[in-house]
This record gives sequence, C-alpha cells and structure tokens, in this order.
Amino acid sequence: MRHLMSPLDLSVEELDKLLTLATDIEKNPQKYAHACEGKKLATCFYEPSTRTRLSFEAAMLNLGGRVLGFASADSSSASKGESVSDTIRVISCYADICAMRHPKEGAPLVASQKSGIPVINAGDGGHQHPTQTLTDLLTIRSLKGRLDNLTIGLCGDLKFGRTVHSLIHALIRYPGIKFVLISPEELRVPSYIREDVLKKNNIPFQEVERLEDAIGDLDILYMTRVQKERFFNEEDYIRMKDFYILNKAKMDLAKDDMIVMHPLPRVNEISVEVDDDPRAAYFKQVQYGVYVRMALILTLLEVEVC
Ligand code: NCD
Repeated sequence: MRHLMSPLDLSVEELDKLLTLATDIEKNPQKYAHACEGKKLATCFYEPSTRTRLSFEAAMLNLGGRVLGFASADSSSASKGESVSDTIRVISCYADICAMRHPKEGAPLVASQKSGIPVINAGDGGHQHPTQTLTDLLTIRSLKGRLDNLTIGLCGDLKFGRTVHSLIHALIRYPGIKFVLISPEELRVPSYIREDVLKKNNIPFQEVERLEDAIGDLDILYMTRVQKERFFNEEDYIRMKDFYILNKAKMDLAKDDMIVMHPLPRVNEISVEVDDDPRAAYFKQVQYGVYVRMALILTLLEVEVC
C-alpha cells in the first residue's frame, strides 16, 4: 500500500506516468467515469480549504466513486481530543482512500503509519502540499510543453508557503531549472531549503526583493499569498501582506509567453486586471488539479483503465 506525503514519494518516471494519465483523463473523461464505482474517498480536513477538498471530492465523483468526510477540526472528534492515529484507524473501516489536511507538520505522516488505507497529504502546516505540486507540474507541462529548462520565479511568502516548498523539491529533479526567489527579507525560503535542497544539488538560484527586477527573465511566475494563519503576530502580517501586487504595468515587463500561476486563494497579490491577460494561468490550474487528483486516486488504488 502506498501513501503520498511528499512529491518525492514518486520517482520522475512515476510522475511522468501520472501526468500522462491525467492528460488522458482530460481528453477522454468518459473512459474513466466508472473506474472507481463502489469505492469511497474520505476527506479529513482539520484546516480550511476550498479547492483542495472540493477538487478531491470532484475527482472521486468524476471517477464514479463516493465521498465522505469532515471539513474542520471542530466538526470531528479531534475537538474531543482524539489523535490522528486513532481517527485514521476508524476511517480505514469506512473508506478506501483518505486525503488529509492538518495544521501540524507531519500529522498525515503519523496517520499513514497506522492506516489501513492509502493516505494523501493534502497540506501539512507550512511543510508540504504534494497534490498542489502535482497540479502545478501538470499545468506547466500542459501549457509550456516541458518540465525542464525553465526559469521559475517564486514570489511572496516563501517562508511559510508549503506549495513553494513542495514545488522546489519536485522541480530540482529536472535538468536546466533555475529559480528566482522573490520575497521580502523576512519571508525568504527556510534555510533547509536553501542549503539542503538548492545548494546541495547545485541548482542555480537568485534571491531578490523587487519583482520588477526579475519578471523580465521568467518563463513562469508563481505568485503566493502571505500566509496569515502562520504569523505569530498580526502587525508583521499587516506589514507584509501587500508587499507584492502583480498588475498590468508589471505584466508589461514580462515575456509574451511567461505564464502566471498561483495555488489560490488570492488575496491582493494579483490585481484582478491581470485575470484577462492570456498569460494568467491560475484558473486553468484549478481545472488541472481535478485531472491530476483523479490520476492520483487511480494510481494509489491500483485501478487500471484499459
Ligand atoms: C494553498 C495551501 O493551502 O497551501 N492553497 C491550496 O491548497 N490551493 C495555498 C494557500 O493557502 O495560500
């Protein structure tokens, strides 16, 4: 039985197979419409979510399966003090696969160790968000035609943004990847990513503060929200929250074929005037998220569709 805790749980070959499956699902949805009939997905979300939870549910429904679960810690027995290990043992009796989001780093991993069913990490604190990364990789591969030889600007809250951490881990495995890390000093990537992931693997990267200085070199601009819920004090958040606002004037400095991505939810970091720019890919990204989660459910449940 396999779980997904980090994008590195899949080899590059497995990832390639999964993304190819997701693209086939996009092209031939009918072929997969009954693939998970009789199977159930549990979504156990101890932290708020719109896209991740609903896209998992949509993915399972599109495969002909059913869904059950809870959307907040308050509405589960966690509020009575139940551990994730006990909860997952119980859920294993009700469902065939589980997607779990938790504010504590490592909680889905702890759950997976006691689970009788595959567990998918749907975001654990400021740590990892592997299914957002699968979404991002499918978006990049579909819109840019490749996952190698790209200059990627990651902009915003690189300290607490788990989507950024997972995406860096996944992309360094492809040749010719360069990162431009665009953040205020206080929100730079954690040192373990700079030292143990980027420097250790000789990945070229630059750290800059001004988006205007970097945008012209990028193939992909990945914007992120300042992660309010992970700040220790409100004042720091207020000081940081509008540090970057991508608008038309900044888009004029970018290449014609650069794409703008964002895991969403967006707050102020992308002005709505950018939404109509053909380079804005963040709503397409949401659709890719459903295809890739369908592919992941099929893969972890070992369902083959001929
Ligand atoms: C992200 C997350 O939860 O980390 N959202 C998502 O899953 N699409 C990004 C965020 O909340 O800023």
